[in-house]
Amino acid sequence: MSAEPTEGARILVVDDERVIREILAEFLALEGFNVHTVEDGEKALTELRLRPYDLLITDLKMPRLSGLQLLEKIEQERLGVLTVLMTGFGTVETAIEAMKKGAYDYLLKPFKVEEVIHVVERALYRQRLQAENIRLREALTIYKVSEALSMSHDIEHILDVVLRAALDEVKADVATLHLRDPRSGAYEERIKIVASGDNGNLGNGGIGNGGMPSPAFAVMMEQFGQGVPILAHGGKASRFFTESSAPNDLASFVAVPLQVRGNMVGVINVFSFTQGKKFDEGHRKMLAVLASRAASAIDNSRLYRELRSSNEDLVRANGSLEEMFQQTVAGFAQALEESDMYTRGHSERVAVYSEILARGLTLPDAEVRRIVQAGVMHDVGKIGVRYDMLNKPGKLTPEEVAVFRQHPEKGKRILEPVPCLHPLIDGCWCHHEWYDGGGYPRGLAGDAIPLVGRVVAIADAYDAMTSDRAYRRALPHEVAVGEIERCAGTQFDPELSEAFVRFIDAWRVVMRERGQDSLIPR
Ligand SMILES: [Fe+2]
Repeated sequence: MSAEPTEGARILVVDDERVIREILAEFLALEGFNVHTVEDGEKALTELRLRPYDLLITDLKMPRLSGLQLLEKIEQERLGVLTVLMTGFGTVETAIEAMKKGAYDYLLKPFKVEEVIHVVERALYRQRLQAENIRLREALTIYKVSEALSMSHDIEHILDVVLRAALDEVKADVATLHLRDPRSGAYEERIKIVASGDNGNLGNGGIGNGGMPSPAFAVMMEQFGQGVPILAHGGKASRFFTESSAPNDLASFVAVPLQVRGNMVGVINVFSFTQGKKFDEGHRKMLAVLASRAASAIDNSRLYRELRSSNEDLVRANGSLEEMFQQTVAGFAQALEESDMYTRGHSERVAVYSEILARGLTLPDAEVRRIVQAGVMHDVGKIGVRYDMLNKPGKLTPEEVAVFRQHPEKGKRILEPVPCLHPLIDGCWCHHEWYDGGGYPRGLAGDAIPLVGRVVAIADAYDAMTSDRAYRRALPHEVAVGEIERCAGTQFDPELSEAFVRFIDAWRVVMRERGQDSLIPR
């Protein structure tokens, strides 16, 4: 007789006496348990292999397979079921012997109903604790592994963490991890871990003597493809290995696939070479969970590596772009200065004064850099203009003034075809605009003039005044500063003028302290 309620613990009752089976089944079912009965040890074993049970209640004396033999088989096959024995007075000692072999408790025949319920409940409580303990331990392992994996993008470290956990968790003698080469499709052993101090347990032909069996990946993949787990013991495991390497001393073997987004990327294999030490379905499931954590970590690590290498390419490209940009700027400045002995060093000094003002204003670094480069490039539009004409002593004719005044517009046109030079256009185009709108080329006023234009305008004027020109000697610092202050609000942004005077004075003090007087205007 069997009862199949959907809820309650699953109990298997084994007794060759039909009456005992029926009585037990009936009142255990009344208590809400899910009871199944069989009449001998062989049938019990078959049933236990087919379905998981929480508790086995078995008679000791039975034909074919006795209770004691059944217990031994359960231990051997790691069927993981808690056992309560039923025995008469004459066999109490055998029952005690059985408990030494792993049985949980025994019931003395004839038994009272309350007694049976009490023992069953105690056994189930213990069984639950054990199961929870195992789940907790597994959860902890998985948690620890997951945490370790999330910290690492190093694939070798990830493989080591995963495989070590696999080996420890199922108490295997050896664990190996093979990864599929994305190019060739071949599986390659990436890491192998041998349990420490286990060499004494390894039989002949095992890893201690004669090398490891080589997995037959085609066979394994076919089985994984059909969703069939690989858990095999002894000779039955041979088919998962290449013929030449089939092991003769393998006690138990589990393989779980590493899958990423439906693709097989590798396999974790665990081996037991210790006779009697077999892996069970619980072990396989645990390994499957580890494998899924590992697969996503490997995927992340590969993604990360790809991401990093593409990022490095980008950084390299950016690096060379930045370098090219600097060279371009320097090249333009060089071309400009070589064509005019009087403005030699002018671009660089304008860049220095622009930087002093920009840094004093605590502008962001990127903005400061842009202003410095604009300072270097501000007069790039003068390339091609006849300097002998522009730098002649005495007054310029109206035609000469008109040519000179084209240089900001020309500078813009020189920079426009080169996208990476676009950030410098404003500095070239707007450094002759006046704050009151009286400048050129567009007659912009106030904040409509880009900041870089207003900064470079002051730096440019200061250097022009403090350097020798074809038409006059350099003016002293105080005169230049006085001129800037006088023109604040008309030619120059008043706030920037005030700031410039302050920062340039401070800079002069610092330069003097450093003994670099030669670099500051007199
Ligand atoms: Fe200029």
